[in-house]
Amino acid sequence: MKFLALLALAIPLLAQQHGTDPIQLDNGARIYSGTCSVCHGPDGDQVSGVELKKGQFRRAATDDDLAKIIQTGIPGTAMPPNNINSGNLVALVAYLHAMRDFKTKKVTLGSATTGRTVFEGKGGCAGCHRVNGNGSHMALDLSDVGAVRTPAYLEDALLEPETANLPQHRFIRATTRTGEQITGRRMNEDTLTIQIIDSKERLRSLNKADLRTYEIEKESRMPSYRDKLTAAERADVIAYLVSLKGAAK
Ligand code: HEC
Ligand code: HEC
Repeated sequence: MKFLALLALAIPLLAQQHGTDPIQLDNGARIYSGTCSVCHGPDGDQVSGVELKKGQFRRAATDDDLAKIIQTGIPGTAMPPNNINSGNLVALVAYLHAMRDFKTKKVTLGSATTGRTVFEGKGGCAGCHRVNGNGSHMALDLSDVGAVRTPAYLEDALLEPETANLPQHRFIRATTRTGEQITGRRMNEDTLTIQIIDSKERLRSLNKADLRTYEIEKESRMPSYRDKLTAAERADVIAYLVSLKGAAK
């Protein structure tokens, strides 16, 4: 019985990890622009005879071929070997397939200094997020968000938190067998337990076997800043976020 209950809890979480995962694509896009676009260009068409964006590869028939080309390079040509871990490799291959549909949109960056003022003041961001030790534990710590997200992702997060962010960041709502209701942000999870930051900012570890219900909230807690900030203020906030590389942790 216990085994069945565990399975029922695990399936929805696993399901989220398949399909086109926007965070994975964003990660792939970031690696591409950092490592590959110097030669291949933002649209993958700068090396003559190679059109990465078309999704047709002369030298690769399968994803495994692609991964191998990326890792070992193409001997005798300028295509170098790349030392990329397997998770990032999967993200990069996913991005190569999705490049065609990926909007290479230009994001305006304003002043990071003004952005910080908006973040801590008018935007009310620090009421939920934490940066370099200041602010709330309620939502994600953004201290290194500039190192892990592209400007386009950050802009989407501000304009459309509903569609931009993945459910894996969403809050969970659980009821224990004794009837206690707990909501909070999921920090970590293994087969038997789940760790959350509850609404009072306390870290709690829950045994999955002790939970009667467990669900991920469908609504984002993050408000859209489409109307709450001007375009100039958003550009400032994005510049500030881009500047957060996690150095001063
Ligand atoms: C130093 C320049 C350079 C860098 C950096 C580079 N490439 Fe290449 N890449 C090339 C060249 C040149 C070719 C064409 C080789 C040939 O076939 O003559 C190539 C070929 C390829 C091919 C094969 C295309 C096909 O049609 O089969 C793929 C896929 C590819 N690169 C992906 C990447 C990815 C992904 C990255 C980043 C991790 C990357 N490259 C980084 C220069 C580069
Ligand atoms: C009421 C709480 C709240 C406020 C206020 C808030 N956020 Fe969020 N934010 C969240 C939550 C919760 C998430 C996680 C995703 C979700 O639930 O949609 C999130 C996600 C994000 C993300 C995505 C991070 C990632 O790596 O995926 C960014 C960037 C972000 N917020 C920036 C901001 C900025 C900048 C502001 C202020 C202009 C702000 N947030 C205000 C709650 C908030």
